[in-house]
Amino acid sequence: MTTLFEELKRVKTFEYTQEDVREITELHSEIRELKRHRNAVVVAHNYYRPEILKVADFVGDSLELALMASEVRDADVIIFCGVHFMAETAKIVNPSRTVLLPNLLAGCQLADSAPAVDVEKKIAALRAIHPDLAVVSYVNTTAAVKALSDIICTSANAAKIVRSLSSNNILFTPDRNLARHAAEQVPEKNVIPWDGFCYVHQQITPEEITKIREADPSLKILVHPECRRDVALLADAVLSTSGMVRYAKENAAERYLVVTECGLSDRLAMEVPDKTFVKGCKLCAFMKVTTLEDVRDSLRDLKHEVIVPEEIRVKAERALRRMFDVEKGAVSAPGDATAPRCE
Ligand code: 13P
Ligand code: SF4
Repeated sequence: MTTLFEELKRVKTFEYTQEDVREITELHSEIRELKRHRNAVVVAHNYYRPEILKVADFVGDSLELALMASEVRDADVIIFCGVHFMAETAKIVNPSRTVLLPNLLAGCQLADSAPAVDVEKKIAALRAIHPDLAVVSYVNTTAAVKALSDIICTSANAAKIVRSLSSNNILFTPDRNLARHAAEQVPEKNVIPWDGFCYVHQQITPEEITKIREADPSLKILVHPECRRDVALLADAVLSTSGMVRYAKENAAERYLVVTECGLSDRLAMEVPDKTFVKGCKLCAFMKVTTLEDVRDSLRDLKHEVIVPEEIRVKAERALRRMFDVEKGAVSAPGDATAPRCE
């Protein structure tokens, strides 16, 4: 059987010593005991530190985490090892649970690039020109922006969500790269992007990707849709983080260049040891700020509780549930998903 040390040794972002793994193992025991005591479930985003992924009950991308959080019934507490908007999403769709974010510094620069007051003004200005305007917000937004939106999408389903709407004119917030990626697949819609971007993915250039591929032409290139268009054009597949995990597990190719935050190639290196994952990645400071000690402290002291004001939560939940309906096939015909606009 593979030991934790052997698994963590495959990670390229951090170097784990035997001593580190001893401390990690002790913390894992403490966390497992506290989980039982608190009747808690630990969920983690794919970009989180490997030692946190190893103690999580569920690991996934934004869509999987949102769906999973909405279905938690048996646990009283959800420890959300993600960034703030993800924990907020869990609280929006499952308000009777206590949702905790272990480190309050885990924000998201992309979500912060679209303040609700500015989005509200933009919606009003665009509706004066396009009365049928629908607002699609990427899940990487604050609860207040979700409350202004007709429907939410994630990197896994942006084109499907845009296609499901009957409106022809769509404001897409806040990521201009994901907006363009969706618009390219649904050319019949007029997708108006909010001019935001993720500082992590924006840093990745076509020159660096081309250089890595030239040195190893056998690489399959997997790119996250938050990347620039000139980077996405080099991809064999443009996928959400869990889409990349599935692709790498199911595809026959042996070598991959994983173009997103570095946590994803670390997860793959641990889970798929017979394949090689070359890093074309950058680090997200927000995803890496949380430590295993923070997770332990969060469970022990029940901190930091995520609260969403009820009037915002109800509207944001409506937009999220519309996405879930499209995902679950409850909305089958294109056009059905355009519900009354949010006032
Ligand atoms: P995924 O939904 O693909 O996991 O992406 C979340 C994110 O924040 C990417 O930067
Ligand atoms: Fe936000 Fe970018 Fe970090 Fe994802 S990678 S959490 S979009 S800052």
